Amino acid sequence: MPRSLTQITDLSAAELKQLFDLCARMKKGEITPKPLSGKSVACIFTKESLRTRISFEVGIPELGGHPIYVTDREIKLGERESVADAARVLSRYVGLIMIRTFKQSHVDELARYASVPVVNGLTDLVHPCQVLGDYFTMLEHLQPSDRYKVAYVGDGNNVVNSWLNLASVIPLEFRIGTAADTQPDSSIIAKAKANPDSRIVITGDPVEAVSGADVVYTDVWASMGQKDQAEEKAKKLRKYQLNSELLKAAAPHAIVMHCLPAERGREITDEVMDGPQSVVFDEAENRLHIQKAIMVFLLDLMK
Ligand code: CP
Ligand code: NVA
Repeated sequence: MPRSLTQITDLSAAELKQLFDLCARMKKGEITPKPLSGKSVACIFTKESLRTRISFEVGIPELGGHPIYVTDREIKLGERESVADAARVLSRYVGLIMIRTFKQSHVDELARYASVPVVNGLTDLVHPCQVLGDYFTMLEHLQPSDRYKVAYVGDGNNVVNSWLNLASVIPLEFRIGTAADTQPDSSIIAKAKANPDSRIVITGDPVEAVSGADVVYTDVWASMGQKDQAEEKAKKLRKYQLNSELLKAAAPHAIVMHCLPAERGREITDEVMDGPQSVVFDEAENRLHIQKAIMVFLLDLMK
């Protein structure tokens, strides 16, 4: 069975280190042969996207491959035929499958039945490419550390679940400031807490979460598929807004991160997003480099 990236926990700590090294080489332009030469990549999107779609569609040809953009209008995953059959068919045409969709079970099933690697480009549960790109961005901006302190304020969503997944593989102090009923996935929290090298704190107090942090991170309060809950979530999460007052509680060297798209004035203020500590557009750029590294890494494992 090929190796896939359905969640960050599919990779070991040693493999993550190799991936970040490969990403650094990708970014410097040191990978000159075209490792995807002669291969097509199915890019399946059943949710909207700017960064993920464009960075894969730009990155695949840079590696010599051919991207095929597919939406649920054509394939109706799990409806027109089983996910398993779609996986078997796609594997006869393409060298890799990237998918952004709602259900994590669809990504897991694709990975189980495909004979090519599957890369998760976001589900309701996790967003691994984002958090891997973000960790790479931290490595670029922060002094080396055995255990960075990352504070997340806001909704306990797919991005938070991926940070917790990262904490279950590598040492991380991850503090979440969120409301009682906007917490991340409980089984993913338990797994992260089981890593003795990581420290997981979940608090209702945003200042406690951010205090002394190296990174202060936020994301939209209502994710794709939940936009009808936007006002209700805004009421619960208002006190977790990332603004300049809250940022004062972080370490003086702290960087500000957001996976984007941002709803400026809601979860983050303009002042913080456009301020000197913000690295949000570096994160967006690094999606391109990390995804190229992920594709090459997974395809190399098949050799
Ligand atoms: N951060 C991110 O995944 O952006 P898109 O939803 O635009 O792809
Ligand atoms: N949590 C957000 C991330 C978007 C990149 C969402 O799922 O909509």
